[in-house]
Amino acid sequence: MFTNIFFLLVMMAVSVLFGWLTRQSWKTKNAFLKWGGSILSGLLSVLIGLLSIIAVVGLIKANTPRTAPVPDLKVAGTLEQIERGKHIADSFCTSCHSLNKELPLTGGVDLGKDFPIPLGAFVSSNLTPAGPLKDWSDGEIFRALRNGVDPDGRWLFVMSNFRGRNMSDEDLQALIAYLRSQPAVENETPNPPDQPNPLGLIMLGAGMLPTGQPPITDVIVAPAKGPTVEYGKYILSYQDCRDCHGEDLYGGVEGQLAPFGPNLKMVQNWTQEQFITLLRTGVDPSGHEIDPERMPWKSIGRLDDEELTAIYLYLLDLP
Ligand code: HEC
Ligand code: HEC
Repeated sequence: MFTNIFFLLVMMAVSVLFGWLTRQSWKTKNAFLKWGGSILSGLLSVLIGLLSIIAVVGLIKANTPRTAPVPDLKVAGTLEQIERGKHIADSFCTSCHSLNKELPLTGGVDLGKDFPIPLGAFVSSNLTPAGPLKDWSDGEIFRALRNGVDPDGRWLFVMSNFRGRNMSDEDLQALIAYLRSQPAVENETPNPPDQPNPLGLIMLGAGMLPTGQPPITDVIVAPAKGPTVEYGKYILSYQDCRDCHGEDLYGGVEGQLAPFGPNLKMVQNWTQEQFITLLRTGVDPSGHEIDPERMPWKSIGRLDDEELTAIYLYLLDLP
């Protein structure tokens, strides 16, 4: 934040300096210096001035507090909830909140490193009771997961664009029960977790980055768990396959923030067993080994057979 403000002040000073140079060149007698010098420094002054204004807009956008309701919630923490929560965490949250896609959820993964252009550091938090969540209420954790806002009203850049928000109320409560039940593992992660750099602020100011979804305030209910197209649809509503493989799953868009994933219609040529084998072993029917850093098959492969079958059936059903 302070480095960004410093950088902005420097940019503004440079813009003013070029403005002053423009004036100086205009005063000279030499025609070349007069025209060449003043046009060049005039353009630079305007350009740098504009960029610094856009960056200020970005800085304001990034720091404007957000609101979303905090449900009045006390999670019971039954054994059943803890098991269900662990299952979701293992097969999903580990893809970003742990260093090797295994437990514990100590965070510390900088997603900014995967972006195609450097926009800053966006580091996943330590979700064990040694991290910030120990001071949050159950309702505040619920709000962060559903609507990407932290207890200080701070906007969580990645989580606010996160499909996990579409998980049912019941599944979110199970997750909270599990997060609370983990052993505390020390690992200091940055506070605040999002540290956009000046380029990130400029792109944010220019409206070129996602700014999060409007809050969901309704109760979400999941369909009955089972090997059905309907349950597959539910899993894909909260897992982030579409961030990489495209909204329609026909392949991502070149240059997107998330790694580019190919068209998933290819799965229609595979058997159910081949599909499940790919997600459990990272090897596809043609023998191609999938890169676990770009495609989180290690986490996804921890979904149970019923859930992977549900995804398979959903993909078979793609038009
Ligand atoms: C795509 C990567 C990704 C996935 C998947 C993901 N997270 Fe996050 N999470 C982040 C990042 C990065 C942050 C840091 C703040 C931000 O940018 O949203 C974060 C922040 C959080 C926070 C706020 C902590 C704080 O210090 O403010 C909570 C709570 C959280 N995640 C829980 C979860 C849970 C539970 C899951 C699984 C259901 C999950 N996350 C899945 C990347 C991810
Ligand atoms: C973070 C980005 C990302 C997410 C999330 C993601 N994928 Fe992928 N996926 C990729 C990339 C990148 C590849 C290509 C990897 C390679 O070839 O090494 C890939 C490959 C695949 C393949 C194999 C393609 C082949 O060439 O054999 C399948 C099937 C697949 N993904 C399904 C899924 C499903 C289903 C989900 C959600 C449950 C998912 N992916 C989530 C990025 C992602």
